Amino acid sequence: MNIALTVNGERMEAEVWEGESLLFALRERLGLPGSKNACEQGECGSCSVLLDGDLVCACLVLAAQANGHEVVTVEGVGAGTDLHPVQQAFVDAGAVQCGFCTPGLVVATAALLERTPNPTEYEIREALSGNLCRCTGYAKIFDAVRLAAAAR
Ligand code: FES
Ligand code: FES
Repeated sequence: MNIALTVNGERMEAEVWEGESLLFALRERLGLPGSKNACEQGECGSCSVLLDGDLVCACLVLAAQANGHEVVTVEGVGAGTDLHPVQQAFVDAGAVQCGFCTPGLVVATAALLERTPNPTEYEIREALSGNLCRCTGYAKIFDAVRLAAAAR
C-alpha cells in the first residue's frame, strides 16, 4: 500500500507492506536512519519519534497508521545543521557513549521540555523511564536534561 505523511515538515510517500512498522519505513524506505532499532518490541525507546506531537515507539506503530499524519524524528528536532538545545546539552554534558540510545533520548527530552520547561527530578526520570541506556549509568543524561532546561 502507498502511504503519504509529513516527516520533519516534509511531505513524503512510501510503498509499504501492511504489517510494516513506522520504524522500518522511516529507516529503510524514507532514508531516515536516525531512529534506532534496538529491541523492536517497545522496550528500549531507541526508536522514539513524535506522532502528531505525541511521543511513541516507532517500532510499535504500523507505517500504515502514520498515513496522513505528522512525524518528527531526531533528524527534524534541530533546524538544518543547527543543533537543538537538547542535542547541544547532550554534547556539552558528555551524555553520549556508544550513542545508540541518544536519538530516542533527544526526542523524548525535547518532548518533555516542550510540555514541562522546568521539570523536577522525578519528572525527568519518569519522562525518560522508557528510554534504556546500556552505557552511561544515566547520570550524564540527567545532567544533559537539566542543562537543556536551564538553557531554554
Ligand atoms: S526499538 Fe522500539 S522500543 Fe526498542
Ligand atoms: S550511550 Fe550507549 S546505550 Fe546509551
